[in-house]
This record gives sequence, structure tokens and C-alpha cells, in this order.
Amino acid sequence: MSHLSEDIVSRAHDLVALYPEPRSALIPICHLAQGQDGWLRPEAIEEIADIVGVTPAEVLGTASFYDLLHTEPVGKYVISLCTNVACMLSGAYELLEHGEKTLNIRAGSTTPDGMFTLEEAECIADCDHAPCLQVNGRYFGKLSNGDFDVLLEDLRNGNLDDVVPPHGTLCRIRRTVGLEAENGKATQARPTEEPTPQPQPDTLAPGQTQRRRRGRK
Ligand code: FES
Repeated sequence: MSHLSEDIVSRAHDLVALYPEPRSALIPICHLAQGQDGWLRPEAIEEIADIVGVTPAEVLGTASFYDLLHTEPVGKYVISLCTNVACMLSGAYELLEHGEKTLNIRAGSTTPDGMFTLEEAECIADCDHAPCLQVNGRYFGKLSNGDFDVLLEDLRNGNLDDVVPPHGTLCRIRRTVGLEAENGKATQARPTEEPTPQPQPDTLAPGQTQRRRRGRK
């Protein structure tokens, strides 16, 4: 019996159809599987390997390279606190220490109730809101120790369920444009827009030069 849900298996095959080589769909499929369990379980890794035609070791080798893919269980909320330069200068290590004390865990581990994983992160590209962090990929910035506590409380009480989905959910909206798979083949989901007609030499606007028209092509 399949560990991955029917929907995920079907979406995985659709992804494979979008690429010339099935193994090119490996990382997107890992994200799909992680969305089901919150991390990549060994059973999921075996099934992904079957779908893309590689060995489970290759799937594990690829997944373990990327921070966003977890090959061990993580909490419902993964708190990735940036300690890179801008955040460090704004008190990121003090905030991290506060987080460790509050959650009673060391960075890199998970609370016993499975709610929170706390980890150090490299720059998450939100330097102007330092010190900042991500919870399951969603941004929170300019945080004091007090803000951090409020954030934890809100997550615990479900006050942020609309903003922060459980770990593994990359996106709650399905893509509806671009390539789609149909009968195992990639097709264009939407016809491309009609090209904007370019003015012909005899329809140049008054004052428009031939050079400008050429520049537009
Ligand atoms: S240094 Fe923290 S977001 Fe860039």
C-alpha cells in the first residue's frame, strides 16, 4: 500500500511529465511529500525514488543537502532564526538564547511535545527587519524577546493558523498558469497572450522615428 496519498502520487506524476528527465522532478516531489508528513519519511523516500527512477540513497542524498527538506522529524512549527551579520548586530544571538531558554531546548532540536523546532539560519533576505526569523517559511521581523514570546503563544493557540500553515506546506494555492501535465505530457495551461501588434512603417505615430520603431523589436 502506498504511503503517499493518491493525490500526491498523481501530482508527482504530473510533475514528472513536465521535465525531459524524470529525476528533474525530484526536489518538487520531495516538497510535495514533505507537505504530507512535515518531513521526508523513509517510506516516502522509497516511493519518490520509484517515481523518478533513482535509488532511495540518491533521494536521501539530494534531500539531505537542502535546508528546506527535512529527513528527520521536526516540530509542527520550524523556527529558523537568522544569525547572519545584520541580524547578529541587531541582537539575533541574544534572541536565540532567549528562544532556547523559553522553549527549554538547544538550537537544532525540537520540543518534546513536537510543537516547535528551533534552528539557526543563514541570511533569510529580510535584513532590513533584523533581527528576524521564519516560521515554516513565513517571515517575522524586528523581534524583541517579548515579541518572540507573543509569537510562540499565538502559534500555540492557533491565532496564526491563517498565516502560518503546518510545517511542509509550501503554498496553499495551486498554480493555475504555465505548464500543466495532460495524459503524461506537458501542455500550456493557458494560451500565451496575443503579441502586441507593432506599428508598421506606414502607421508610425507622428514624430516617431524609424530608429525608435526598430528599437522596440
Ligand atoms: S542577515 Fe538576517 S536576514 Fe539578512
